[in-house]
Amino acid sequence: MVITGGRTLRGRVRAAGAKNAALPAIFASLLTSEPVVLLRVPRLRDVQTALELVQALGKEVYWQGEELELREGAPPPPVAPEAPVRRMRASFLVLGPLLARRGQARVPHPGGCAIGPRPVDLHLKGLAALGADIQARQGWVEARATGLVGRTVYLDFPSVGATEQLLLAGALARGETVILNPAREPEVVGLGRLLSAMGAEVTWGEDRVVIRGRKELAGTRWQVIPDRIEAGTYLLAGAITGGRVRVEGVVPRHLAALLVKFEQAGLEVQQGEDWVEVAACGRARGVHLETGPYPGFPTDLQPPMVSLLAVAEGESSVTERVFASRFGHVGELLRMGARMRLQGATLLINGVEELTPARVRAPDIRAGAALVLAALAARGTSKLEGTDHLARGYQGLPQKLQALGAEVELCRMDSC
Ligand code: EPZ
Repeated sequence: MVITGGRTLRGRVRAAGAKNAALPAIFASLLTSEPVVLLRVPRLRDVQTALELVQALGKEVYWQGEELELREGAPPPPVAPEAPVRRMRASFLVLGPLLARRGQARVPHPGGCAIGPRPVDLHLKGLAALGADIQARQGWVEARATGLVGRTVYLDFPSVGATEQLLLAGALARGETVILNPAREPEVVGLGRLLSAMGAEVTWGEDRVVIRGRKELAGTRWQVIPDRIEAGTYLLAGAITGGRVRVEGVVPRHLAALLVKFEQAGLEVQQGEDWVEVAACGRARGVHLETGPYPGFPTDLQPPMVSLLAVAEGESSVTERVFASRFGHVGELLRMGARMRLQGATLLINGVEELTPARVRAPDIRAGAALVLAALAARGTSKLEGTDHLARGYQGLPQKLQALGAEVELCRMDSC
């Protein structure tokens, strides 16, 4: 991607459906033999991977614009194909549905990734508590259960994936599954709503989520929630270029932690029922923040926020509390003239007045977004490699940025 920075971004952009809500919803379709129709599904590489996976597990896939219908061609086999699971960690969520429907499942271990080791122990402990016998063999997880039974499971960390795995499995388990210390990200709550619409009963308490399973689940129509991470990224793009961007079709309260930090940074924030607008009058001021499980500051917005703070006035600190090593963007930002250094899990930032354009490489989705933002702010032409990561998580990114006034071009390597 070739980005000529220094343009002020202004205008409106519409948020897509959330990737991280669409993926578990696609896997939830494996829980029923009836059709599941999902609305506002983003056209992303990760969604394609999820569809490749459920197709191999017997689903037929029909697209109509952003509407996706998943119909069962054949009941799912108990073994998941290797390639899509290794490619995308969220694929591991098929374990619960396959186990619940078939009484056995064999799924590749999803492995680590660029942002840390990312184990699945909490998923497996939870499924074992529901009665599954689980073995890990040569890179595969094998699970068996003659009927899952609802139990109380405590999560040591409010893991998004483990909560989703247990909601999915619990939806077809006998009796009530109680998850203590669950993740409460809007995408997880969204999955709970989908499962309720399919017939399971999901209720949230102060410290728990309870799911009452059903013997069989029904098909439904369900709308994917807006992508708060994509929305936040466009607001940051406006802010870093000293502009004014409105993102429409969002749930403003899902962005609360980011908006508070914007206000502390001296940016002007306005919001309506389903939109948020952020304007920068000059440079932002440095702020201190820690990422955390929702409603904490989202780890997925940490990298692009770091780009803003790289050019903010004064000092900032950013502590990463969710992933062990999610600072892949830092080395590249240093090459663009940023002044920052890591001290354990905390990034200490001394804001500079300007970043300089450079040739940089995106190591993962959100670090890629951080580098796009940095390039938008750096006067001159930057070249970003590794844009396939961006295609995993941001629908129509170059077009949306162009509509806001950015000079961005996606080109083949040999023509850049
Ligand atoms: C989800 O990942 C998201 N992915 C991530 O978004 C997001 O960053 C993350 O939640 C946190 O919000 C999807 O929804 C598809 P976790 P997930 O389980 O489920 C540890 C993006 O860029 N942990 O809450 O993998 C884990 O190592 C992606 O869109 C265990 O120790 O997140 C991590 O440190 C990246 N054992 C922490 O918990 C487990 O069994 C949070 O992970 C599970 C997790």
